[in-house]
Amino acid sequence: FNVPEPKNEPYLSYAPGTPGRSGLQAELKRLSSEEVEIPLIIGGKEVRTNSTKPVVMPHNHGHKLGTLHLANNKEVNMAIEAALEARKEWAATPWQDRVAVFLKAADMLTGNWRYTINAATMLGQSKTPQQAEIEAVGELADFLRFNAHYLTGVMSDQPYSPDGMWNRVEYRPLEGFLFAVTPFNFTAIAVNLPTSMAMCGNVVVWKPATSSIYSNFFMMKLLQEAGLPDGVINFVPGSGPDVGDPVMESPQFAGLQFTGSEGTFNHLWKKTAENLDKYHSYPRIVGETGGKDFIFAHNSADVKELAVAALRGAYEYQGQKCSAASRMYVPESIWPEFKETFLAEVAKIKTGDISDFSTFMGAVIDKKAFDSITGYIDFASEADDAEIIAGGSYDDSTGYFVEPTVILTGNPHFKTMQEEIFGPVLTIYVYKDDDFEATLDLCNKTSPYGLTGAIFAKNRYVINQMSDALQDAAGNFYINDKPTAAVVNQQPFGGARKSGTNDKAGSKQNMLRWLSARAIKETH
Ligand code: ALA
Repeated sequence: FNVPEPKNEPYLSYAPGTPGRSGLQAELKRLSSEEVEIPLIIGGKEVRTNSTKPVVMPHNHGHKLGTLHLANNKEVNMAIEAALEARKEWAATPWQDRVAVFLKAADMLTGNWRYTINAATMLGQSKTPQQAEIEAVGELADFLRFNAHYLTGVMSDQPYSPDGMWNRVEYRPLEGFLFAVTPFNFTAIAVNLPTSMAMCGNVVVWKPATSSIYSNFFMMKLLQEAGLPDGVINFVPGSGPDVGDPVMESPQFAGLQFTGSEGTFNHLWKKTAENLDKYHSYPRIVGETGGKDFIFAHNSADVKELAVAALRGAYEYQGQKCSAASRMYVPESIWPEFKETFLAEVAKIKTGDISDFSTFMGAVIDKKAFDSITGYIDFASEADDAEIIAGGSYDDSTGYFVEPTVILTGNPHFKTMQEEIFGPVLTIYVYKDDDFEATLDLCNKTSPYGLTGAIFAKNRYVINQMSDALQDAAGNFYINDKPTAAVVNQQPFGGARKSGTNDKAGSKQNMLRWLSARAIKETH
């Protein structure tokens, strides 16, 4: 019994007058009128600590959604023990029975839980209903269903058996426990990392980001209700060192799946090296880190398509997608037309409370992000070699709001052309049409990252030339489209270079990282 190939989950539009709209509005009202206590979940049990933190809405930071409990060393060690205890049965459970839990979770998510998870992502992470729908519902359900299907592919991938023998490969969960460290910006990624590993029969200590704890907690409850056995995934929010250090020091640590900053990933990798002698096996390390994602236009580009891609690529979810466009190269010959079209669109962007349903951008995630993003805007406004040509204002009196901002620079190495900002800031460099090849080379060499990138051109020879020049500059490469919104089973997602290990999220290859193969030869 294999898992048949599923279809991508269709999105609800939440257009006025649709049942989705009123259902989601009712759920937003219900959730925002009550405060939740968010405990740790270890071995299936709620655990409270004396270290707590308020959970607030980024777009209205005076509005408290709940209180979060944070783990210390003691709780992390409890989580490791609970995971190892659960491993005894979970690893021995047939894989079809394991995936049944996650297939049920996907159906619950797209059924009765849809509005709850969407609303929780909107309120806690300041996403619009449409942005929450495509990822916290659509992409997450797709991850759960397609990963189950990819396991079918792994399990049925069997070697040749000549006459007189039976060769086979058993794909077994890893010995020990795994560690999932997840980001705030996608509920789908946060839940995909621990569930993909657990589906393979592993047990997991999950450290969710505290800034997306609200939706992540509801998803943890959903997984429990779907029948996830106690201790298979342990929900342990806390500070990086408080959670990370005891995990990495455990001899039973068998692997890490990470999405977050390059600095943290490097730190965890070094910690693994420091503790290597203690471990039973070489830990599997999979990670996705930063990006400095580009849009590069040739002078044959369709200017309207380019403007839409830049607008959506740079500003949807406030530019906080790891895939968001943040530097752009435009040829001089199309610059006047592009500038007029693009800036007219940027001026129309509505920023504000996401529960209004017509807002395009909510707030950035928290005060730290607000300070960092606005620091870049201030730097650009004071620089001699750059100019802010749209936006540039910000206000954190009610929520952490930053206007969609466009910086124009004549310096291709300007700070905001090089550094990851993770906010609604796009920097544009206008190049001379004759410098096309040199500018491609510049684009390729400007950043150590290689996450996403988009090129715009009409001529096939030029498209090939651009694609060749930017070979390793983007693990997800888009031709005449925005660099964001990869769809599971359509564009497996992951970055090259310093953007990560490029073990595409939502792929058979990713599932193989969480399995240990035993090749068996039996003669007759
Ligand atoms: N998978 C997300 C995107 O492509 C990061 O935008």
